[in-house]
Amino acid sequence: MISDDFRSSLSSQPTKLLVTGGTGFLGGAIMARLLETPLWENSRFLVRGATAAVGAERLRETLRKFAVDEAKIAKLQVDQVICGDLADVQSFENDPRLGSVDVVINSAAVTSFGKHPQIWPVNSEGTAAFAAAVHKHGNLRRFVQVGTAMAVGPRPENPVLEIAEPGVDVRHLVDYTASKIEGERRLRALPGLPLVVTRPSIVVGHSKLGCAPSGSIFWVFRMGMKMRAFMCPLDAHIDVIPVDYAAEAVIHLALKPALAHDLYHISAGPLGSCSFREIDHAVAPVMKRLPISDFRHLPYEGFVAMQGQFKEFFGPCNRRLMLLAIKLYGGFAGLGMVFDNTRLLAEGVRPAPRFDSYAALCQQTSMGISIADQMLPDFK
Ligand SMILES: NC(=O)c1ccc[n+]([C@@H]2O[C@H](COP(=O)([O-])OP(=O)(O)OC[C@H]3O[C@@H](n4cnc5c(N)ncnc54)[C@H](OP(=O)(O)O)[C@@H]3O)[C@@H](O)[C@H]2O)c1
Repeated sequence: MISDDFRSSLSSQPTKLLVTGGTGFLGGAIMARLLETPLWENSRFLVRGATAAVGAERLRETLRKFAVDEAKIAKLQVDQVICGDLADVQSFENDPRLGSVDVVINSAAVTSFGKHPQIWPVNSEGTAAFAAAVHKHGNLRRFVQVGTAMAVGPRPENPVLEIAEPGVDVRHLVDYTASKIEGERRLRALPGLPLVVTRPSIVVGHSKLGCAPSGSIFWVFRMGMKMRAFMCPLDAHIDVIPVDYAAEAVIHLALKPALAHDLYHISAGPLGSCSFREIDHAVAPVMKRLPISDFRHLPYEGFVAMQGQFKEFFGPCNRRLMLLAIKLYGGFAGLGMVFDNTRLLAEGVRPAPRFDSYAALCQQTSMGISIADQMLPDFK
C-alpha cells in the first residue's frame, strides 16, 4: 500500500505530523505503523495525561498491545508528547509545537455507543476548536479527520457513496454518529482548512494479531453465533476492515502529495465485504463445531423474549446492557450497509483483507475473555 517509491519520497519530506487518539485502537495502530517509517522522529502525539511522561507511558502501553518490541517502543521520546484534552483546547492551544505541524491525523473521539457526556464536547465542538488552533499558525498542509462511515445514517443506495452532507434530518441510532457528522460540518465551516475526511467502515481486530490489541465489536459476532440469531439474515453482508489496514490507509491519505477528493471511505467495499454465513464458516473450526444451520433472523422483540436464556448463552451478564447492545449493533447490522471504496483504491490503497481471512484469529485471541467482558469498553 505505501509503495517503495512513496516510502522514499516520505523520507526526503520533512513532514511534521501530529496524531491524536494514539492511546486508542486505530490511533495505536497508526502509531505502530509510523514507528516503522522515517516519519517517526518528526511525529508528535496529543494525549490526555497529567504530564508528558504520563502521556508517553500511556502510549507505550498501547504500543505493547500491538506487539511492538521494546527496542522500538524506546524510540518514543517524552518531548514527542503534547498533553491535551479535546474538550479543553484552550489549555494546550499555545503549545509552540502546534505551530510547526503540517499534517494532522485526528483519530481522537469519544466512541461510546452509550450516553457519554463528553460525546458532543469532544467529537463536535472540541474537534473544530482543535483544528482551528493548529490551522491559525498557517503551516498546515492537511488535516485528516477520522470520521465514521456510519455517520450518514441509512441511505437509499447500496453501496453507500461518500456523501458530504447527508442532511440534518438523518435518523441516528446513537449520539456518537450524530456528533461525528456534526464535527465534520464544523470542520468544513473553518475557512481555508485543508481538510480531508476519512470515514472507516467497521473496524474489527487486526489482520495478524486478531483481537489481542482490542476486542471492540468482535463480541457482536460472538453474540450472534452464541444465540444462533441476530437482527439480520445470515446471508446479509457486513463491511468490516482490520485496524492495521485502516491505519495504513489513513497514513496513505495523510501523506500522499495530491489527492483527487477531500472525502474517502476506508472500507471493504462491495467486493471485500463478507456475509455473516462466511464469517461463521471461518470461525466454526476454532470453536470445534459445525457451521450454524439453524440461524434465526429475529426482530428486537425476539431477543427481549429470549433474555431469560442470556445467562446460559453469555454467563453472568447485565441483561439490560445485552439487550441494548443487540438493539444498537443489531440495528446497524440490519441496515446491511456496504461502503463504496472506489475512491480509496484509485488513490493506490490496496483492497482490504476480507474479514473471513482473519476472523478465526479474532476468535482464537478472544478465547480467554467472556462476551460480557469484551463488550464493556464499547459502552464505557
Ligand atoms: N473502531 C471503529 O469501528 C471505527 C469505525 C469508524 C470510525 N472510527 C473512528 O476512528 C477513530 C478512532 O476510533 P477508535 O476505535 O480508535 O476509538 P477508541 O479506541 O475509543 O480511542 C479513542 C481515542 O480518542 C481519545 N480521546 C477520547 N476523548 C478525548 C479527549 N477529550 N481528548 C483527547 N483525546 C481523547 C482516547 O484517549 P483516552 O485514552 O485518553 O481516552 C483514545 O486515544 C474515531 O474517530 C472513530 O470515530 C472507528
